[in-house]
Amino acid sequence: MVGAAGLILTFIMCKAMNRTLPDVLFKAFGGSGEKDQLTRTKVGSDPEEVAMVLDGAQKVIVIPGYGMAVSQSQHTVKEFADLMEAEGCEVSYAIHPVAGRMPGHMNVLLAEASVPYEQLIEMDDINSEFPECDVALVIGANDTTNPAARTGEGPLAGMPILDVDKARVVVIIKRSLSVGYAGVDNDLFYMDKTMMLFGDGKQMMNELNSALKEL
Ligand code: TAP
Repeated sequence: MVGAAGLILTFIMCKAMNRTLPDVLFKAFGGSGEKDQLTRTKVGSDPEEVAMVLDGAQKVIVIPGYGMAVSQSQHTVKEFADLMEAEGCEVSYAIHPVAGRMPGHMNVLLAEASVPYEQLIEMDDINSEFPECDVALVIGANDTTNPAARTGEGPLAGMPILDVDKARVVVIIKRSLSVGYAGVDNDLFYMDKTMMLFGDGKQMMNELNSALKEL
């Protein structure tokens, strides 16, 4: 039973990454050295500035990734959602099938923080909602949002992604501009409508929540 379940999850993971099993097992993913070649820069925003943008937002989508797991920020994310919902904002969570490092990684963490299951929306169902989204809040996700995957080149080529770049404003919480698991620079960081909140996920979420309370 356990072996069969593992095999099924492995094939789901391969499909979501658009890679074959031998590719996943034997070929390098990332490691292209792109991390060392990053030359672009982006000025960071501060939590107060982001809180002002969130003020009056009607629809917010949270995009969690591996960095949420590392920083254990799921409880502060839930607090953020509670604060926004208290102001009448609709909050949902976009779940990519390979966000994090194991199948269901984000679901488990968000369930632990008591996020209602019906607010977790799978990629195929939520992608059409991004153009109507006032603010997309990306917390520690990178590859799963990288528009480079839409091109036919590079390690991410062909991997389905969350259409975060279609939201009206994008806020990204991570510590730097560095690459994710696949080692590919992310154009999303450099878009005019993107605000970068540089820092540890939990710390930045706490600061953002404090700024929201002070509005
Ligand atoms: P990733 O592309 O792995 O990026 C995670 C980002 O989190 C990093 O760029 C990092 O940026 C940030 N981060 C790390 N520690 C942080 C912290 N303390 N606070 C805030 N941010 C932090 O994330 P993803 O979008 O979830 O994609 C998952 C990747 O893993 C995909 O490429 C997928 O194919 C691969 N993968 C997934 C699985 C499964 S089944 N889920 C299995 C194997 C591989 P900074 O360093 O700048 O903070």
